[in-house]
Amino acid sequence: MSFYEPETIVCNGSLFRLYITKKQIDKRIEELADQINRDYEGKKPIFIGILNGAFIFLADLMRHVTIPCEVDFFKLSSYGDEKVSSGHVTELKDLDADVEGRHIILIEDIVDTGLSMRYMVGRIKAKKPASVTVVTLLHKPDATKHYVNVDYVGFQIPTLFVLGYGMDYAQEGRNLAQIYVINEESEVGPSPVIPDLAEK
Ligand code: PRP
Repeated sequence: MSFYEPETIVCNGSLFRLYITKKQIDKRIEELADQINRDYEGKKPIFIGILNGAFIFLADLMRHVTIPCEVDFFKLSSYGDEKVSSGHVTELKDLDADVEGRHIILIEDIVDTGLSMRYMVGRIKAKKPASVTVVTLLHKPDATKHYVNVDYVGFQIPTLFVLGYGMDYAQEGRNLAQIYVINEESEVGPSPVIPDLAEK
């Protein structure tokens, strides 16, 4: 059985085209995991996936993590079924893990306006962890309205609406194995940028 990776896809009436391939994603996830393995040696971190969007990225990343670690989930919503953020965060599921004194690695599919991640970092810091680190597969620096420090970035992308690999449009499209961009303009603009991973 092969992965679901068409060249274009119609999702809820909008046409999307391929933007970041599975091969590019897989390679970048290996690089991120290698860096995390080095940086967190001996620290037994807790990876916290922010649902729903992060579930595929977290699952793929975790399979390259070779250090002792734990996993938990937090569920937030800021977009509802729209293409732009609602501007407020709704908390849908709290953590089960006790994070006090622990090294926490927050895992997101995308940091867009920064609202969700800023909320999440504040929420976790209030629980007095030893440290909090942010990992996101995609970052839209030009869309940031709520500043948050992002430690590990898979790809920096322009302000475009993207779909697939966990990310949805009105809840559909999360099952696509690659990342797609909405085809509203004839020119999609710059390609994704792969930032350097600084040693921590
Ligand atoms: C998406 C995404 C991030 C957030 C990023 O979640 O998964 O959590 O938006 O946008 P922001 O930086 O502007 O806050 P969404 O609220 O759509 O919920 P989902 O993860 O269930 O898709």
